[in-house]
Amino acid sequence: MDVLGVSGSLQAASSNLLVLGTVADRLPAGTAFHVFASTGDLPAFNPDLDVEPAPEAVARWRAELAAADAVVVATPEYAHSYPGHLKNALDWVVGSGELVDKPVLLITAGPGGGVKAREALSPVLKVISSDLVGAISIAAVRQKYDGTELVDADALALVDQGLAALVAAASARSTPEA
Ligand SMILES: Cc1cc2nc3c(=O)[nH]c(=O)nc-3n(C[C@H](O)[C@H](O)[C@H](O)COP(=O)(O)O)c2cc1C
Repeated sequence: MDVLGVSGSLQAASSNLLVLGTVADRLPAGTAFHVFASTGDLPAFNPDLDVEPAPEAVARWRAELAAADAVVVATPEYAHSYPGHLKNALDWVVGSGELVDKPVLLITAGPGGGVKAREALSPVLKVISSDLVGAISIAAVRQKYDGTELVDADALALVDQGLAALVAAASARSTPEA
């Protein structure tokens, strides 16, 4: 199974990147995981650019989503919503449909947990027909890490629960009932 991580934060020392590191550690053995290099490289969505061939960064984004069996989005809250580059990235796949029926786990992490980002992003993921299997928030995220290790038992349990739902949905999708 291939799982793609998408970070809503573009900064190198991102707590959401730390969370995606935890996701990598907690996925079942045999699951491949990598984080998409940068949604920040995508041009601003413009229907005039949404033609073949797609801009290179867009083609890469779509191809990596298409190749993934499931997706984990980890994002901070910016101005009571989620960062604009992430909305832009999602706008690029509204028409092309790479997230349709794709199992997605949403994690918001930040000082307050990014609850407003979760509330803003969940309906967007649903309206583009992804299979949103869970949406969890981790508050005071920096304090819950010892280096790169998530050491808070409640947060770990939430992540594990979310990943179990994600893996179950992706497995069911790859082996549909006859
Ligand atoms: C431009 C900007 C806007 C922010 N707006 C909010 C906000 O509305 N609510 C909130 O709880 N935190 C807000 N924050 C704090 C970030 O969510 C917090 O720093 C988060 O940990 C950043 O995630 P990262 O470490 O993955 O980059 C904001 C930070 C920035 C830089």
